[in-house]
Amino acid sequence: MSTPVLHVQHLVKRFGAFVAVNDISFDIRPGEILGLLGPNGAGKTTTIQMLLGVVTPTAGSIQMFGLDLATHREAILQQVNFSSTYVSLPQALTVEENLWVIARLYGLSQIQERVDDIVKRLEMEEFRHKITRKLSSGQSTRLGLAKAFLTDPKILFLDEPTASLDPDIAQKIRSFLKEERRSSGLSVLYTSHNMHEMEEMSDRIIFLQRGKIVAEGTAQEIVARFGQADLEKVFVKLAREN
Ligand SMILES: Nc1ncnc2c1ncn2[C@@H]1O[C@H](COP(=O)(O)OP(=O)(O)OP(=O)(O)O)[C@@H](O)[C@H]1O
Ligand SMILES: [Mg+2]
Repeated sequence: MSTPVLHVQHLVKRFGAFVAVNDISFDIRPGEILGLLGPNGAGKTTTIQMLLGVVTPTAGSIQMFGLDLATHREAILQQVNFSSTYVSLPQALTVEENLWVIARLYGLSQIQERVDDIVKRLEMEEFRHKITRKLSSGQSTRLGLAKAFLTDPKILFLDEPTASLDPDIAQKIRSFLKEERRSSGLSVLYTSHNMHEMEEMSDRIIFLQRGKIVAEGTAQEIVARFGQADLEKVFVKLAREN
């Protein structure tokens, strides 16, 4: 089995007395799409924020590419990117200006070519010169994804990447993600409340509840283990046992 690109061991995050992430361990392998599933408040976003180094873990370790995030933050984050609805880019810049800023921050070369390419592939031509503040929520989500893909990351963290997209664009984004994974061996950790999407996209799923991993495996394995018809029914069953 290949060496994991991400190796998480006994990760914990407490906010005061509240335990948001409670001793979770998991790996992501090269080229793998891992779905992080769980009810509202389960600890998914907190986990991603720790993996991005923006929230400091209370305990546990995070390694990427065999390096410790705590001590090799800069080298690691250069090869990582993310998108999240909750982190917005500078609102006064245009879409294209924002992409330029990201490209410069990452020290990329041939920036215009890269920007043109991602704008075309995510079908953003129509709003590339719009001020970010004026974007619709779906357009703003696409800008977040463009920003994430622009830097050719080896690991991508996507927090609800399709939440505000219309079904047509959501489908295109899923195809795009699968194509990127095929062509570049990208590894992805993503969250979604869309169970069909989870089933379609994830090589493996981790089910988080109250900060703990309560199930792990392929969608089929999890569905079979809980004796349900599909992932949505597993979700509802687990969430109601809460
Ligand atoms: N800065 C913080 N201070 C205190 N509590 C926090 C903080 N950030 C998150 N939490 C709590 O940690 C828990 C996990 O939150 P998190 O955002 O990780 O959940 P989630 O699984 O992403 O949920 P959702 O599906 O709603 O996005 C929640 O109960 C939340 O209120
Ligand atoms: Mg969240």
